[in-house]
Parts: sequence; C-alpha cells; structure tokens
Amino acid sequence: MDDGTKGRVLVAAGGGVAAMKTPFLLRRLREAGFEVRALASERALAFTTETALAVAAGSPVATEARWFAASGGALHLELARWADLLVVAPATAAGLARAAAGLAEDLTTAVITAGVPRVLWAPAMNPEMWNYPATQENVARLRGWGQAFVGPEYGALAAVGEGEGRGRMSEPETIVEHVRYHLTPKDLEGLRVIVSAGPTREYFDPVRFISNPSSGKMGYALAEAARDRGAHVTLVSGPTNLPAPWGVEVVRVERAEEMHREILERFESADAVVMAAAVADWRPAQTAAEKTAKQGSEKTVALVANPDILASLGERKGRRVLVGFAMETTSGRERARSKLERKNLDFICLNYPTQEGSAFGGDYNEVEMIFRDGSVVKTGRVSKREVANAIWDRVRGLVRERNEEGAQNA
Ligand code: CTP
Repeated sequence: MDDGTKGRVLVAAGGGVAAMKTPFLLRRLREAGFEVRALASERALAFTTETALAVAAGSPVATEARWFAASGGALHLELARWADLLVVAPATAAGLARAAAGLAEDLTTAVITAGVPRVLWAPAMNPEMWNYPATQENVARLRGWGQAFVGPEYGALAAVGEGEGRGRMSEPETIVEHVRYHLTPKDLEGLRVIVSAGPTREYFDPVRFISNPSSGKMGYALAEAARDRGAHVTLVSGPTNLPAPWGVEVVRVERAEEMHREILERFESADAVVMAAAVADWRPAQTAAEKTAKQGSEKTVALVANPDILASLGERKGRRVLVGFAMETTSGRERARSKLERKNLDFICLNYPTQEGSAFGGDYNEVEMIFRDGSVVKTGRVSKREVANAIWDRVRGLVRERNEEGAQNA
C-alpha cells in the first residue's frame, strides 16, 4: 500500500533460486509507490527471466550484456546515481564476498563501489553457507560500512532434500517494509513513544470473556510509522491476529489492568503516548477459577469499572504528549472534546465506526484531530498508515514546542 514514502529503488537479482521471487518484489515495490528498476546477474537469469523482471519493473533490465553496449560503459555509474537504495534480492554468499572485498567485477558490485547511497541485502542460501565463517565476516564487514540486511529467515529450503533451516530469502512484503524503513527520514529520532493497540479481554471464567471487535490495525500502523521515523517504540497490545512488528518492543497483554500496569511501568521515560486500544470499560466483578457450568436459563454477571488508563496518565502527564482516540456514533465532536478535557490530553482523534471505510478492522480510516485550542484537522479517508503519520507529525510538533519552552525556562 502506498503510504507516501517515496524513493528510487534498484533491485538486483543474484544467482539463486529465490530470484524467482524478484519479479514479485518489484511488483510490490511499485504498488507501494516506489520508482523501481531491475538488474539481473547472469546467473540470476537461470532462475528468472529478463521478460518477467522487465514486466514487473516496467522498464528494461540492466544486465551484464548491456553494461557496456547500452551506455558506453557507464551503466554502473548511471544506476549508482539514479538509485536512492539498492536492494540485492536474492544475495548469494559469492555476492556478499565480492562486495566485502570491494570487487567491482559484476554489475551489482560495480554499482556498490560506484557509491550507491544505501544498500539492503536480502540473502538466500543454504544455512551452512550462511553460517560459514567467511560469510559471517563478510556480513559483519558490510554492516560496519553501514549496509543493511533483511533475513535470511527460517523455513523450508528450496534445494531438494534440504528440509528446513535459516536460509530463506525474506518474503517480498517484508523486504518492502525494510525498504520503506531505510527511505523514511528519521524525524522522530531520540523520541520514546508508547502505543496501545487492540481490544482487551475481561474474563469471567478461564474460557469466557467480554471484548470488542478492535483489530489493532490502527495501533500497529502507529507503531510501524513511528519506528520508520526513528522513534523508540513500545507497543502494548491486546490480543490481535497481527504479527509483531520488527524493530518495536512488543508487550502482549489481555486485560485492561495489565495494559494499565505495563504502560505505567514505561511512562516515566516516555515522551509521548498514543492510546489506540479499545479498552473494555467494564470487567466482571469476579473471575471464576474454573469454567462455570451452565445452570438455569438466565445468568447475571456483575461488572465493575476498569481503570481509565488514559485519564490516569493525564493525571501524571508532566511534559509528555498524550493522544487519545474517541469512537463515537453520535455528537462526535462534543463528546470527543469533553474526553480531551477530562483526560487531560493534547489532542484526540475522533473516528466513526459507522462511517464507510473507517469501520473496525479495515485498512483505511478517517480521523478528525481535535486540539485543546479548539482547532480541528481532518485527515480525509486515507490508509491507517497515513493517519498514523499525520498523528506523529502533530506529536512531533508538540514535543518540539515543549522542548523549546523547556530550554527557555532553564
Ligand atoms: N481508554 C482508556 N482506558 C479505558 C477506556 C478508554 O485508556 N478504560 C482510552 C482509549 O484508548 C481511547 C480513549 O480512552 O484512547 C477514549 O475511549 P472511549 O472508550 O471512547 O472513552 P470513554 O472514556 O470510555 O467514554 P465513553 O465510554 O463514555 O464514550
């Protein structure tokens, strides 16, 4: 999904079986809004085809055969200057060795030595080859020069009879996430943020609970966007079906009280907290230790109020930026404003569960950010990731203002 991150990405396929997946990677990168070009080593073309790569990239493929013919010998220089990032996918043990030795004898390593600004390696090889001391030293050396890696991952290996191991190339979707990370300006660097996400579960016996249909997607998008912008992120998450985002401290909880405790423990050192979780307001007064058997035709469960996490953070806010969400079905702004006041927030993000495209579980949302001075900023209907970026833009502005005030008063 296009989240607004832009950049030119050169994708170089090395000579491994995983080169079959390189066209998919090109496709996904284009869908994500990046400009792409493809490069294929000679051996890569044993596993994928020039046509598949060209169609996926939407432009002619840079090959060893064209290195000199097409551009008078400067194709490696032209590519190194065109690209913001080179992704080598798949990267072979031999490719890593050539790059670590500074050889420029193939087109990919020539592009690297010609000074392409960033390099991301997506290795794919047999686990023994990955663990071989020379390979590991080459990886350490390339990392030392500021080059980045994604994978290899554990899973089924392509070569016949090899079973499973750590050697698979990361999936194209994962590689796209890493590309996005490397091409996002780090304007939240140095900030520590806490994001809550998902529903809570309030049990009345070991197997039954009260909850709500929150998918957690908004909170996870907030965590990923902040990570990409360089923040230190803690994601306190209720139960969801979403995979734990990489590069984020994930704390899994079930009940509102646990969520409260985990957030409070980290609150002292946080610069900002965004509460996107759909915290259950009530919990059963008692939780049975054993599964309760069915008795009679009616049952009454006594409920007690859960702590209002955000309100309790508001009481000890200090200089931290506090952001809440409000999901309303009627009198939205009025109710959201009163929550903003009552919970001592900097701003509140109002969304409507009933509005088309912003229901629970979707990939899109439409949010009105309501501020203390009465101003309102609308995002329009955009991806949750874009909503997240709009929220972080405001948080960043508020943190800066506060730091400037702090410096003046010091
Ligand atoms: N919230 C919280 N703790 C709770 C309930 C809500 O921290 N026990 C947070 C939510 O994460 C959200 C904001 O408060 O950011 C607004 O939640 P909402 O349920 O809409 O507000 P309530 O105060 O519960 O008001 P009401 O149920 O009356 O609408």
